Amino acid sequence: MAAETDPVKLMKQEVGRQAAARVQSNTVIGLGTGSTTAYAIQFIGERLAAGEVTNVKGVPTSFQASVLAKRYGIPLTTLDEVETIDLAIDGADEVDPQMNLTKGGGAAHTREKIVDGLARQFIVVVDSSKLVDQLGTTFALPVEVLPLAVAPVTKALEALGGKTDLRMGVKKDGPVITDQGNMVLDVTFGAIANPAELEKIINNIPGVLENGLFIGLATEVLVGEVKDGQVKVRSL
Ligand code: A5P
Repeated sequence: MAAETDPVKLMKQEVGRQAAARVQSNTVIGLGTGSTTAYAIQFIGERLAAGEVTNVKGVPTSFQASVLAKRYGIPLTTLDEVETIDLAIDGADEVDPQMNLTKGGGAAHTREKIVDGLARQFIVVVDSSKLVDQLGTTFALPVEVLPLAVAPVTKALEALGGKTDLRMGVKKDGPVITDQGNMVLDVTFGAIANPAELEKIINNIPGVLENGLFIGLATEVLVGEVKDGQVKVRSL
């Protein structure tokens, strides 16, 4: 395979590599969703194939994670079969200075929050463009909604001051359908003053499955950046 030259992809690749390096033998790993975690999944598979680690099982957070895990030879398991998740590795769309996150750019945040929230350690893998002073400033908040409740949930979110957009498919007419068969409203609030409170208020609207605010879950954030033409990874 040709060596990667795109700087953003290089950053993602390097944080993915460093997250995969944290995986130990005899552990259960939460496998996140997105282009950065995809590199971590690839490198975990390569470490397994090289015999650097053994007896590693993955709990996928999406159909994408499950496909990649199979491609790279990571055995999969489910939450019915494991007592605990030792480490989850997942991307994010925004990261604030308290390591709170906005997620759901890939419409996988409901399963991601279940898996990442159960993990004893949750490492977030991002490039430096994801760092923000306040959540909501660069990315609309994804909210997964039961299809039959899209109209009332839209009204309730607008009453909270959000501007809603039903997420539409690319190369598919009509809305995005999540891995669970639901729809996603992307809600623009602007800077979110109290993300912990907003997370609970939104999840209390009947018909909402989950929103993309991940508060107090991350234990470490690995940030890839390019400095003096070199890719560097730092830990928050
Ligand atoms: C998936 O729904 C999201 O939560 C992703 O984890 C997030 O969008 C990060 O993706 P990238 O690593 O592709 O930016």
